[in-house]
This record gives sequence, C-alpha cells and structure tokens, in this order.
Amino acid sequence: MHFDPADTAHPHLAYNLLIGLVAPRPIAWITSHNLEGRVNAAPFSAFNYVGTEPPLVAVGVGNRPGSGPGVVGKDTARNIRDTREFVINVVDETLAEAMNLCAIDFPPDVNELDIAGLATVPSTKVAVPRIAGAPAALECREVTTMEIGRSRIILGEVVSFYVKDEFVDPAGPYVLAEKLHAIGRMNGRGSYVRTRGAFFSIPRLTREEWEKGRGKAKGKA
Ligand SMILES: Cc1cc2nc3c(=O)[nH]c(=O)nc-3n(C[C@H](O)[C@H](O)[C@H](O)COP(=O)(O)O)c2cc1C
Repeated sequence: MHFDPADTAHPHLAYNLLIGLVAPRPIAWITSHNLEGRVNAAPFSAFNYVGTEPPLVAVGVGNRPGSGPGVVGKDTARNIRDTREFVINVVDETLAEAMNLCAIDFPPDVNELDIAGLATVPSTKVAVPRIAGAPAALECREVTTMEIGRSRIILGEVVSFYVKDEFVDPAGPYVLAEKLHAIGRMNGRGSYVRTRGAFFSIPRLTREEWEKGRGKAKGKA
C-alpha cells in the first residue's frame, strides 16, 4: 500500500504512519521551568541526538490541536523559548508509569512531578533541575528552534551529562546500556518497548576483515 501524506480523508495519517514506522523511539522526559521558576515535566519521543561535536539533540514538539502556527502550545516549548534551557531525563522501566502521567494535559501552574510523586535535584550547568530518580540526564541549552507548520523542532546543545555511577564503564567512558533498562516508545498511545534482555550484536567489520571472510567462504565452496 502507498499513502499520500496530503490525503485529507485521514486527518491523522502521517502521525499514525510515522509513529508506527519510526520505532522504537527513545523518550526525552524533559524538565523545564517558566520565568518564575515553576518546574514542568513532559515526555517527547520525537527525539534523537543529531551531532556530537558539539553534542546536539533535537526534539519535535507539536502545537496543541486547534492552536495555529505561531502559537507556542505546549508548556515545554514555551519554557524553552523563554529560558533557553532544559534537561532531558532518561526513562527506565521503574519510571515508566510516572513518565506516562506527565503526558497528561495539565494547566501550566501544575507541576507534573508533584503529581507523579517525584523529587528533583539541581543540575550542574543549567538552572532547570533533573529528576532525582532518572538513571541519566542531559543538561541542554537551546541552540535554535525551527517552526514548521504545527511543529517546533528544538535543537539543543548538551552542556553537561549525568549518568548514575552504576551505569558507567569508566574505561571508555561508556554507558552500560544493557543494565540501564531504558524504555522506548512504539506505535499508538500507551505503547512502549523494554530493552531488558533484548540486546544482540553483529560484529562491525573493517573492509579488510570482510574481504578475508569472503575469501574463506569462497574457499569452502
Ligand atoms: C511517550 C510519550 C511521547 C510523547 N512524544 C511527544 C512528542 O514527541 N511531541 C509532542 O508534541 N508530544 C509528545 N507527547 C505528548 C506530550 O507529552 C503531552 O502533550 C504533554 O502534555 C506536553 O506537556 P507540556 O504542555 O507540559 O509540555 C508524548 C507523550 C508520551 C506519553
């Protein structure tokens, strides 16, 4: 089947297809605060890292339904526009329910973390706190935000990384991702994926190693 994103008969066509096909997605559980310092937390899975020198992340925040272009619909986007800072908290299995609660459309004066019963701790380089129980957090400063249609693409530079000691292999340093048990988002509302016990590896070959292997396979035949 082929689908045309311009097909107006299915108003959610592009969204439905994108969240089903671009999956699993990492979840950026973003803490931000408004100009009065009121903390907000919400999850976003239109998220990835997009550069390493400097370390860059991108997050897609949609305006709320009904709000037209030019309107900053979500508290997270408004806070980042106003303060230019945010923190991406990594979500593990133990935090899944609390993260999901933070996606409820509360008014701006509600701190979702109070509702989810979660504490925060100060960050090191930005004024926005991180979630105390999160296994890792990326402290970010907004580089730029592009507004395209009803979406805002927020590009942030990571100015500080926090990773809980037990998930760090100091040799690299590397993240012990197999132990961290991050969750991802799949298709549809409330659809997630675990990473626990789901890792597998394929050796990454150099061209020479591949040539050698090919020679061996030919020799056998
Ligand atoms: C796992 C998950 C991923 C989400 N990803 C996005 C996303 O990428 N973009 C978006 O605009 N909303 C996304 N949402 C919805 C927002 O979290 C929701 O609109 C939230 O109320 C925004 O809160 P805020 O107004 O406090 O910023 C997601 C929700 C969940 C549960």
